[in-house]
Formats: sequence, C-alpha cells, structure tokens
Amino acid sequence: MMTRAEWKNQIIYQIYPRSFKDSNNDGIGDIQGIIEKLDYLSDLGIDMVWITPIFKSPNKDNGYDVSDYYNIHNTFGTMTDFEKLIKLASKRGIGIMLDMVFNHTSDQHEWFQKSLLGIKPYDDFYIWKKGNNGLPPTEGTAFFGGSVWEYSSQRKEYYYHSFDKSQPDLNWQNPLVREKLADIVNFWIDKGVRGFRFDAIDNIGKEISPDKVKSNILLTHQYLKELSANSYGRDPKIITVGETGGANVKDAIDYINNDELSMVFQFQIMSLDGVREDDWLKKPLPLFQLKKIINKWQIELANKGWNSQFLGNHDFPRIVSRFGDDREEYRVLSAKMLAIFLFGLQGTPYIYQGDEIGMTNFPFKSIDDYQDVESLNYYQEAKDKGLLEKNILDRMSKSSRDNARTPMQWSSETNGGFSNAKPWFAVNPNYKQINVEANLKDNNSLFNFYKKLIKFRKEHLVFTNGQYEEILADDDKVFGYKRKNLGEELIIICNFSSDVVKVKSKLGIKKDFIIIENYTHSNIIDNNIKALRPYEAILIYQKRPAVICQGKNK
Ligand code: NOJ
Ligand code: CA
Repeated sequence: MMTRAEWKNQIIYQIYPRSFKDSNNDGIGDIQGIIEKLDYLSDLGIDMVWITPIFKSPNKDNGYDVSDYYNIHNTFGTMTDFEKLIKLASKRGIGIMLDMVFNHTSDQHEWFQKSLLGIKPYDDFYIWKKGNNGLPPTEGTAFFGGSVWEYSSQRKEYYYHSFDKSQPDLNWQNPLVREKLADIVNFWIDKGVRGFRFDAIDNIGKEISPDKVKSNILLTHQYLKELSANSYGRDPKIITVGETGGANVKDAIDYINNDELSMVFQFQIMSLDGVREDDWLKKPLPLFQLKKIINKWQIELANKGWNSQFLGNHDFPRIVSRFGDDREEYRVLSAKMLAIFLFGLQGTPYIYQGDEIGMTNFPFKSIDDYQDVESLNYYQEAKDKGLLEKNILDRMSKSSRDNARTPMQWSSETNGGFSNAKPWFAVNPNYKQINVEANLKDNNSLFNFYKKLIKFRKEHLVFTNGQYEEILADDDKVFGYKRKNLGEELIIICNFSSDVVKVKSKLGIKKDFIIIENYTHSNIIDNNIKALRPYEAILIYQKRPAVICQGKNK
C-alpha cells in the first residue's frame, strides 16, 4: 500500500488535451494523441498526468462545462481509448488524474435541463431564486463577469452561476446531488483513475438565504469530508488536489488534515496576494512579495499539511513570460532558473505542458485571435465601460489564459507537429525554434534540464522532508533558500533579474558538493559565490556531517 510519504516525491504533469497532440488530424488534440506521447512523458520522469476535463461538454469553457460525467467527449475519443490510456500509462508507472468539475455543470446537462422544467428530483439540483421586482435576487459579480444570477424565462426564476451563465452551480445542500457526485468519482476509480483534481472546489459551500448567497468554508469542509468518505478516501493510493482560489494557510491545513484532500492549489502566488493584476504583470517582478508568500507557505505548512508547487497552468500566462524572461537571450536560462526554484521547494511540483520546453506567451494582435470565454467576456465588459481598445488588448495579451492554450510544439514541421490539419487554436509562430524535437537533440536543453532535476529530486529525500529556511532575505533580485534534514542540505540561489548581482553573505558551501546550475561554468570560487550572472540559478547539494549524539548515559 502506498503511504502518504511515498507519493510525496511524485511529480505531476498537466495536459490540456485539446492542445497536446492531435492523432486523427481534425485539428483538436485527443486521447490517442496522449497515448502517442506516453514515452515522451515517461522519459521526462513524471509520475502522474492531470488531464483537464475530457467529459462530454458543449465546450463553452473548454470542458469546464460538463454535460455528461460518465462519457468522454467525442472529439477526444471513446471510452475504449480512455481505458487504453489508463492501461498503457500504468505500464510506464504513470497514473491518470482526472479533473472533476463539481461546483457547476453545463447548462446542457440533463440535470439542468430537467431542473429548468421543475422535474423532480432535479428541481432542487441547482440554486434557484425568485427575483426582486424584476431584478436579480442579490448583487454579486461572476468570475467571468456579469451578475451571478441568470433569469430563466422557462422556470421564471433566477439560477446562480459562479462562472459563466452557461455554468450553473450545483446545489450541494441537496444530499442527492452529493450522492450522485460520489457515484461519479467511484465510476472513474473503478476504471483505474489514480488521482482527482477538483475544480473550483472552495465554492461548493454556500449559505443560501432568501436575499443572499454567501460562501461558507465550514460547509465546504463538511461536503468534502463526506465526498472523501464515500469515494476516494477509501483508497489511500488516490491523490487529490483541490483548486481553492480563496484558501489561506489555515484553510489549506484543514483540507489536508481532515483527510478531505491530499493537497490544494493556493492562488496567493498567482495573484501575488493582493497585488493588482496590472501590477503583477509588470516587470520587474515584485520579488519581495513572492518571497513573503513562499516563506509563509513553506514554513507554516511544514509538518502540518502539504504544498503543491506551480507557477502557471491553463488559466495563466506562460511561466517563462511572466516570472522569467522570454527574450531569446534569456528564455532558456530563466526557464531553467524557474525550474530550480520550483523543484527545490517542499510540495508536489506540477509541470504544465510546454513549460518543460520553454513555450512562451502568444503574440496576440487583435481580438479575433482570442477564444477563451473569460477573455472574451472581459473584452466586452471593458468595451462597454469605454476603455480604449489598445489598452484592453495590451492587458489581455499579457494576462489572457489563451497564452497557455496554444498547441504543444512538438517539432519544426507544419503546425509544430501538433496536427496536419489547421489546429483549433493558432500555433505560436516561434515553434520553429522552440519545440520538443530540438530539445531532445540538445543535451543542454531545457527538457534535459528538467529531466535531470526530476531524477535528482527523486533520489534525495531532502527535497521531500527537508526543513525550509530563507537566505539572502534582503536581496531584491535574488531568491535564496536552504532545505535541511538530518543528513543532507540543499542551497538554492536564483537570480530573478537580468542584472549581475553581488552575493553579500557567505553561503557555507562545503568541499564536496553536487551542483546543478543553469550556466555551464560554475561561479563558485573558494567555496563561495561572489556574483550571479543574469538569471543564474544554482542548486547545491551537500551531505551534512553526522551528528554525534552525546547521550546522558555514556
Ligand atoms: C477553474 C478552471 O481551471 C478554469 O479553466 C475554469 O474556467 C474554471 N475553474 C471554471 O470551471
Ligand atoms: Ca483529434
């Protein structure tokens, strides 16, 4: 039986299936495409693949609007394809993690269609309220803009939606809804699924009174405890991660310690904890803010919870464009720096497809280049407010989720080797230089660097259990930290800037150490580092002298 400690050194790779690999040349990635690339994933050394939703869906939000949780969406393939994927992945020691969208369904889901008509027992599967003299029951803005309420002329009531109006929220207060959702999880566990990511899960606890809907974290905990007890919690091998946009450290500890989830995605790093989006997109990166957040989560979750580590996913810009530097001279260097930075931290690392080859943001030119529902809704709202087209597009080009959704760049062939047909979304024109094929050929490539780091991470326990300690705290360009257990020590130093930076303090580097670094020639002189070159990153591993215990009873 796999215990918690055993999964703690695992690495999870995230696949956005429509953009991963198209096997049948219809321009959309699919399950067979993932199967074709299993050897690639296994070569990278990852343990689990999180696939964003592949269930039947009208795809208003690329699968995050599910119309049937028991079936695979036809453009992705069939159930037989999925079963084959489970089998072939498991042969390579890779588990499959599915993305369960349980806060809401699509408005095309049979439950909602019946709820619209007031058919029992579905009438109470969603959150319905009468309006207020022709106005929505309460105030409140949805994550994707507009009111959280949408009027149905069929039912003559309003329904609640946290996201787009095509994504009505499920009513978790209804025990039958909770039972149905547990059944769905069990169905996929029986198919051999080894992990679950729960979408927007901290939105499920809601206090519904006649005049308002308030989120309620205690209810969320209660529902998750029940879901776990009735499904994945029965099997300790299953790994779960909750997407909890609003979680603070205490919430995260509660989710984990109550055996509700193995870990959560916290978003304080992504939003830099309250820094306005316009500012977090600016360069230079507010490094002190990043340090504050990382320090807090590393220290406060140690021995109490478990972190997940990511700098981006399908909902954010590309990590090298945002946290690194995607100019050609620095792209690979800074992407390697981010890899060292992330892999050294305590917690489960997540790699989003394409980040291991340094894919960048897309050069958007006009609104016609976008497809994402959130981006398009934002554009419309900004236009309605009278903002200038140029300013709207400038912001969108840096922040849009579409940046991360361009097809995976496999080779320098047409469409980056993703498909022979016109892909559903444009391929980034830099695919001729940035692609998997080129990475595989080059020993010094980003892919091979990831591979080396993953292997090294797995071989040394300190990555999993080492205690975190910040170093070089006052430096506004360098992020440094140590990790220590009884016998090993890691020192990680990352220059987050394109400047040469002097290192003021002595680092305590011993004679025999192993080093992984992003420049070819080490900058360590007399067991110390004097200056860091642009985006230079160094990982130093050394054994700690055995501690001789001077017990009382000599
Ligand atoms: C979070 C998902 O990651 C995102 O892509 C989606 O749009 C929302 N949840 C709504 O399901
Ligand atoms: Ca296809």
